[in-house]
Amino acid sequence: MSGSWWRDGVFYQIYPRSFQDSNGDGVGDLPGITARLDHLNGRDDSLGIDAIWLSPFYRSPMKDFGYDVSDYRDVDPAFGTLADFDRLLAEAHRRGIRVIVDLVPNHTSDEHPWFVESRSSTDNPRRDWYVWRAGRNGAPPNNWRSWFEGVGPAWTRDERTGEWYLHHFLPGQPDLNWWNEGVRAAMDGVMRFWLDRGVDGFRVDVAHGLVKDPRLRGNPRVRVFGRPAPRDRDLDEVHEVHRRWRRVIDEYPDRMAVGEVHVRDLRRLVRYYGRDDELQMPFNFHLLRQPWSAAGFRGVVDEWERLLPAHAWPNATLSNHDVVRHATRYGVERARVAAMLLLTLRGTPFLYYGEEIGMTNVPIPADRVVDVVGRDGERTPMQWDASPNAGFTSADPWLPVAADLGRVSVAAQRGDPTSLLSLYRRLVRVRRGSDALRRGAYRVLPSGPGVYAYERTAERERLVVVLNFTDRAQRLHLAVADTRLVLSTDPGRDAISERLTLGANEGILARAG
Ligand code: NOJ
Repeated sequence: MSGSWWRDGVFYQIYPRSFQDSNGDGVGDLPGITARLDHLNGRDDSLGIDAIWLSPFYRSPMKDFGYDVSDYRDVDPAFGTLADFDRLLAEAHRRGIRVIVDLVPNHTSDEHPWFVESRSSTDNPRRDWYVWRAGRNGAPPNNWRSWFEGVGPAWTRDERTGEWYLHHFLPGQPDLNWWNEGVRAAMDGVMRFWLDRGVDGFRVDVAHGLVKDPRLRGNPRVRVFGRPAPRDRDLDEVHEVHRRWRRVIDEYPDRMAVGEVHVRDLRRLVRYYGRDDELQMPFNFHLLRQPWSAAGFRGVVDEWERLLPAHAWPNATLSNHDVVRHATRYGVERARVAAMLLLTLRGTPFLYYGEEIGMTNVPIPADRVVDVVGRDGERTPMQWDASPNAGFTSADPWLPVAADLGRVSVAAQRGDPTSLLSLYRRLVRVRRGSDALRRGAYRVLPSGPGVYAYERTAERERLVVVLNFTDRAQRLHLAVADTRLVLSTDPGRDAISERLTLGANEGILARAG
């Protein structure tokens, strides 16, 4: 384990509430994750991933299921204890799995002691740790809106002092004031706390949104093509904070951070790489927003490749805990091509738990909805086997379990060489053994409509990827001589020729020369 493991490796996101319950309360926990690490790495039949990203497991009133932190330095009892975390970390490391944890610096819970102090009076020393302002004749201080749809204004009036506080998510998630040096220093301390415990890095929540206009000027009402820019996110000054964090991270050997950066303009997004002095990567969410089309995906990848500075390392992801699972968005029949795309592009792939078995969003009956903005369907329990609660829990699970366990579970797919899980495993292994896939150059190849083809090349290796995005067979001529099939998404195929008919939704990976 050394060098730029995060460039070479494959990441896997775990939503701790939903991976494995170990104590029979229907909610997943850290000992549960530890018990399931073999699925991820350490055995011949493991998936073979290199790192996990754990969504928050800190103390929290759970209004946003952990993204409302009331103590950054402790584990919520629902998830276990700090000792459980240490065990998880040690067991993961023993299997060659790195662990990054979610850092939530934009806001705390309203139950965090910092906010409890801050709201207590206008002259409390922590008043300025959050953003407080007088209203405008009974209305909020400006027109900023919560980024959660349906919440309305990003401001709530606090009875105690009559002032309003800022919250870009729920009222229970007050925004910290990132202009305040005390806040910056406190978050450095939080990072060091986890780095000292041995974590390999961070996924940073809302990394583009921390710093807001200090004069709290309202956002422009009319925006054309992203201009004029909003004043409550993506300000130049946020990069100062990222450089500061990078300095903290670099005090420790071999650590990294990936930022959740929702900035649609790719030219602005690549600024988050800085001069290799900010977070190692901002997430690229552009793939995840693409409708299923060869031209769309090719367009995004090519633009991204064109704009990235030389030192910048790309990444790719198709699903996470905030968006409808891609097997639902695109259709399960596309999950194989999607897997081949994700694991053969240039850059670090991030998988979301369950995608390796083709989990889809589970329909949630109205009386079981628990998330304020309706993300429950993509957060349902991991499907381990076909037992009543999918092997996830012995109790009632916090969210309903899928109905398709006979097909879509680890147990059903593990021993089946034709399963999606087997395809993921093979793709991960091929990637690990291939310089071209891990580190090689990317170049798009000409192909007909509906097909996305590219080559990945390293010094002594040339691989070709051809992905049929359509539901129809596609005849094509591989303009690459002397190719041998490495892997097809169709388990029935065992060879290719220069003139080739790709099946509907088939992708192939071939070796040239
Ligand atoms: C982004 C996280 O991914 C999401 O789940 C959360 O609700 C918001 N940030 C607020 O922390």
